[in-house]
Amino acid sequence: MTANDHGVDWDGLRAAAVAALDHAYVPYSNYPVGAAALTDSGRIVSGCNVENASYGLTLCAECALVGDLHMGGGGKLVAFVCVNRAKETIMPCGRCRQLLYEHSAEGMLLETVSGIRTIDEVLPDAFGPRDLERVAEAT
Ligand code: THU
Repeated sequence: MTANDHGVDWDGLRAAAVAALDHAYVPYSNYPVGAAALTDSGRIVSGCNVENASYGLTLCAECALVGDLHMGGGGKLVAFVCVNRAKETIMPCGRCRQLLYEHSAEGMLLETVSGIRTIDEVLPDAFGPRDLERVAEAT
């Protein structure tokens, strides 16, 4: 482990993302994506993209990952990586940043194209569940 690994087995996480990518259903883009994350209970969850003939209904790999998180008992995401077929790290799309934020542990880390970043760096000033709770408490 190097000094900037933050104690996360990024190679293991990346291997899980690459394995997930093999299950992608991508007849339209031919661009398989695999995502994997470490949860706060030490579990690894993963997902692949699943496309649709109605293109806009495509499910990104992150959608399947969040499903895997909940099917396995829930929890919060601590570290995340997403890869393409060339095993390159790719960035979660805008919608999926919001999806990940919803399920993030505080300080969640992402391996990005510009190194390890926190969820707050990847989605600054995010709107999330705490905003709803704050208003509900005040009324
Ligand atoms: N894709 C993901 O699965 N996750 C992302 O964060 C970026 C894009 C997928 C959606 C589509 O199936 C393919 O990549 C090409 O856009």
